Amino acid sequence: MLELIAALTQSGVIGINGTISWNIPEDLAHFRQYTMNQIIVMGRKTFQSLPRPLPNRTHIVLTNTLWVQSPDNCKYNSCPVHYCTMDDLEKTILEVDPDRRKRVIIIGGGEIYRHFYKKCDRMCLTVVDNPIRGDVAVPEILHYARKHMKVVNRTGKLYSAMGGEVYEIITYKREL
Ligand SMILES: NC(=O)c1ccc[n+]([C@@H]2O[C@H](COP(=O)([O-])OP(=O)(O)OC[C@H]3O[C@@H](n4cnc5c(N)ncnc54)[C@H](OP(=O)(O)O)[C@@H]3O)[C@@H](O)[C@H]2O)c1
Repeated sequence: MLELIAALTQSGVIGINGTISWNIPEDLAHFRQYTMNQIIVMGRKTFQSLPRPLPNRTHIVLTNTLWVQSPDNCKYNSCPVHYCTMDDLEKTILEVDPDRRKRVIIIGGGEIYRHFYKKCDRMCLTVVDNPIRGDVAVPEILHYARKHMKVVNRTGKLYSAMGGEVYEIITYKREL
């Protein structure tokens, strides 16, 4: 089963200037909980936008330029980082988790979401009310989820006491 997690506006904006366009600490906590101890798959640009690898998650970074760094760049090795091409993704997942115990979660950014959104069985989307502009948008994700998947959970509107944004977390599952 392949999963995707994203935060986006109604028009599909996911980022600006290599970062995320809003401040919702509560959603970062939700992202942390959702991805904890799992395999997270991301594009090279999203990986480089992180201040550091995320603890207790296995990172798979998609790249065509074989941008290789030491996999030991992480304290206590609690967040290993593996680089691979799209062709090698399946093989890399098997290498890092031979028993397939972990969930595989696509975490962005735009290029990677565009490649995977139609292939995911489950999507956890944080939809932000703020119609903020950005330079990376993937409106296809919400259109596709609304048309081809069913809602299995929705939080209703939430207010970020820390960031001041209104948002909702909606989980979609592929219809059988
Ligand atoms: N709101 C959210 O939930 C969310 C989540 C994640 C990211 N973001 C935002 O999204 C933005 C980054 O997105 P982006 O679209 O610019 O970049 P991206 O998808 O993070 O990374 C693009 C890179 O991935 C690699 N790649 C893409 N397609 C590939 C393929 N078929 N095979 C192998 N490698 C491939 C390439 O790396 P090489 O150039 O090394 O070949 C490409 O340059 C940032 O603003 C970030 O903050 C938002």
